[in-house]
Amino acid sequence: MSRAHQGETPTDQLSKAEAKAELKHLADAIAHHDRLYYQKAAPEISDAEYDALRRRNATIEARFPDLVREDSPSRRIGAPPATGFAKVRHPHPMLSLDNAMDENDVREFFKGVRNFFRAPEDVKRVEPDSIAVMAEPKIDGLSCSLRYEHGKLTLGATRGDGITGEDVTRNVETMATVPKRLEGRGWPHVIEVRGEVYMEHPGFAALNREREKAGEPVFANPRNAAAGSLRQLDPAITAKRPLKFFAYAWGEASERFAKSHFDALKHLKSWGFATDPHSKLCHGVEQVLAFHRDMAAKRAALPYDIDGVVYKVNDLDLEDRLGFVSRAPRWAIAHKFPAQQAQTIVRAIEVYVGRRGTLTPVAKLEPVTVGGVVVSNASLHNEDEIKDKDVRIGDTIIVQRAGDVIPQVVGVVRERRPRGTKPFEFPHTCPVCGSKAVREEGEAAWYCTNIACPAQAVERLRHFVSREAFDIEGLGEKHIAEFWQDKLIKTPADIFRLDPAKIAAREGWGETSARKLIAAIDARRDVPLDRFINALGIPQTGPATAKLLARHYRSWRRFRDAMEAAGDESGAAWQELNDLHNIGETTAADIVSFFGEKHNRRVLDELEKELRVADYAAPSAGASPLAGKTIVFTGTLEAMSRNEAKARAEALGATVTSSVSAKTDYVVMGADPGSKATKARELGVKILSEDDWLKLAR
Ligand code: IVH
Repeated sequence: MSRAHQGETPTDQLSKAEAKAELKHLADAIAHHDRLYYQKAAPEISDAEYDALRRRNATIEARFPDLVREDSPSRRIGAPPATGFAKVRHPHPMLSLDNAMDENDVREFFKGVRNFFRAPEDVKRVEPDSIAVMAEPKIDGLSCSLRYEHGKLTLGATRGDGITGEDVTRNVETMATVPKRLEGRGWPHVIEVRGEVYMEHPGFAALNREREKAGEPVFANPRNAAAGSLRQLDPAITAKRPLKFFAYAWGEASERFAKSHFDALKHLKSWGFATDPHSKLCHGVEQVLAFHRDMAAKRAALPYDIDGVVYKVNDLDLEDRLGFVSRAPRWAIAHKFPAQQAQTIVRAIEVYVGRRGTLTPVAKLEPVTVGGVVVSNASLHNEDEIKDKDVRIGDTIIVQRAGDVIPQVVGVVRERRPRGTKPFEFPHTCPVCGSKAVREEGEAAWYCTNIACPAQAVERLRHFVSREAFDIEGLGEKHIAEFWQDKLIKTPADIFRLDPAKIAAREGWGETSARKLIAAIDARRDVPLDRFINALGIPQTGPATAKLLARHYRSWRRFRDAMEAAGDESGAAWQELNDLHNIGETTAADIVSFFGEKHNRRVLDELEKELRVADYAAPSAGASPLAGKTIVFTGTLEAMSRNEAKARAEALGATVTSSVSAKTDYVVMGADPGSKATKARELGVKILSEDDWLKLAR
């Protein structure tokens, strides 16, 4: 258990129902904090606290893999970019890192790396006590990608949500540590150099002094100052800010330019980039742990903030094979520094309602600086948490940011409790609509029982038009809430029946803007299958699962028919859904029960009248003979572990399922195959040997 969660139920003691409720809660909380951090640049919790939330989410998910939600933070990287800058799609996504909070996590990480490989010559290079690893400080700034074509800087982009960032070229051009032209030799014709934009303490302090004098709000910490300075619409302002850049990675590269991380950093340096001088090539876990201790000791004296260290498998060939798992690489991990704490007073306890009706209590705090971030809110998670810690209004509490993120309440300082405080009474009604709230047996959370509760209805509609769903330009969260309030939109289909005259007559609107909105809505009447499925807001079914379902079922008709047929949980349709690799039983049950609801079916019927859902088109990367195929693995493979094989197949566009059916295209048979091979023969499914597989998977 991480330090940030003292007082919470240890994750290994959570019942399945509690775990499910908590994952739901964590998804909501993390999304909320992501919004504050990325869009408003005003985090309420420290990075440590935030990391602690993500970590708890990951730990619970690891224990209950079938409870992983589709909107899980582990599948998301950050929040979408703010408007004002042109958007740029990263040719290679800019991913995030998983966190290790203690030495044990680090050892587990290296075990995972070793277990990924199977062939003795591979395993030899990844033994935890000798593996070659680059260890680098984890600089606390914001990541940035710099694209060079023929040695010339052509684009600077922020990370954004990892897929799409903001074009900040004109701003990075003003930075002295960003080469406008690459020096030296040997650089690829096209290369995206990635690294951290950050601010050093003296520059940060001077900037804040100036701002204070000018009566402007000061930045809470160097990271916020760096982010705020890079994302200036006027590059002349950025030019005046003391921003620096350290290079530590790369994205697209037209040619391979190094065999190891160590080499790559050397090259980056020779081309004119600054790299962190503390970065060190280590061999084995003990050396990286020593590096962590060493950096923790040096941390306070460094001129810039670091919030941990990063370990990267040094050999780039192994790195390629390890690849990525949703938001983070398998070949790297961030080893964070422990939490920072402070004391403050609870001014109020407020209860919020989330998209699925969960009531979440939040402690409103007397603002306090914890490790450089001003904290004024801390999540109290649920009724039990408040009871267990006995947090009362007026109490002095200890808040903590572990490493750096969502603030946690560690506990109450009893000696400071003023007289006359009373235990907090958790509301039994919804604070938004006043309906009865319930708490189910075995669950930690209270829910609003009103399916028409505005908090939920509006949140669902917001999800429907959000960027990863219908992405309707000009129809933002605010409009949805207003249109809902005025009864212009009740269900998603109403969006497509909006009357332009009624919109034009509204305050702040006119004919042109109304026409524009209707055109933007009309432009979305043809919708890709995966977006449509995601838009429905089925529990545990976010973009990744929606894509998986679309890839498998291909057409809306087929998908809907299959889900309605699957209502009878013993039939072939139910089996087919459950066999999809990565769809756990609870997700399957949630999807099927969504289609079982009469109310939902009515909404779908209405939507079908308004929309054309396009059949799933296999990605054009489908040059691979495996694209669009359904594969089952059986027996032991020699050259790679089952995990690597699955990861490879999915990267090439295939779907991996666990049991053989008539829909299976290939069964890959390793040594000692089980009954799946027999079944494949019976059904006449093509059987591949490990060699055949390796040829296809190249
Ligand atoms: S490697 C695919 N190395 O940490 C992973 N990241 O939590 C590429 N960061 O987004 C990242 N110092 O903003 C890497 N030496 C370092 C880093 C570093 C800071 C940041 C970076 C990244 C975040 C991940």
